[in-house]
Amino acid sequence: MDGTYNYIPDLSTNTKVYTIDAPQEIMDINHHLVNYILDMDGLGAGVHDTINAGVSQFTGWKSFDNPHMQQLLDWIGQEIKIFLSPHVVDCLPVFSQVWGMGYEVNDVTPAHSHEPAFVSFTYYPYIEDSEIAQPLEICTFPDGSIEMDLSMCADHVKESTKQWGKTLLTIPPHTGQLVIFPAYCFHQVKPVTVKTDRYCIAGNVHHDFENQPPFWN
Ligand SMILES: [Fe+2]
Repeated sequence: MDGTYNYIPDLSTNTKVYTIDAPQEIMDINHHLVNYILDMDGLGAGVHDTINAGVSQFTGWKSFDNPHMQQLLDWIGQEIKIFLSPHVVDCLPVFSQVWGMGYEVNDVTPAHSHEPAFVSFTYYPYIEDSEIAQPLEICTFPDGSIEMDLSMCADHVKESTKQWGKTLLTIPPHTGQLVIFPAYCFHQVKPVTVKTDRYCIAGNVHHDFENQPPFWN
């Protein structure tokens, strides 16, 4: 016997997207973060994962092994706690995946969510030109009604011509900007048409239930 889907308006979720600029100590390591993306391009665990299959430079899925990444994630963890408050008290963020990307001409990220992750983020260590770089778009679920020409994009994303949502929120990226959103939010980056540096570090977080209060001291 099949189950029944009862669709609830998304208003039930109080969905919010949080943006904040990095403090100076993070701005000071941005160049190291960009170098990490460049040095680790095509390397590291999970590099063949396909969630961002249309992006030229991809560091691998589990990029925790660098002191600058650790410093960045320490700050992002604090911001995620702020993002979740006051509805979620005492979240202990655990980073389950972290990856870096560099966009080039004809790179693209069709609409997708990060489920089954809990909270997701994107941080931009370097954006050459905010007005030229493709924005991050928070969008509706891709129901197949919006079509884009992906003929110039990587072969393995050419099947995704109808994987686009209606834009709900446009976030032009800039250097030092952090965006935090619930992992279920669909988002997309339309095909890059102009050469301009656009580096980002993205990831997923879950809550550490094993060490949550009152079991930790
Ligand atoms: Fe994503």
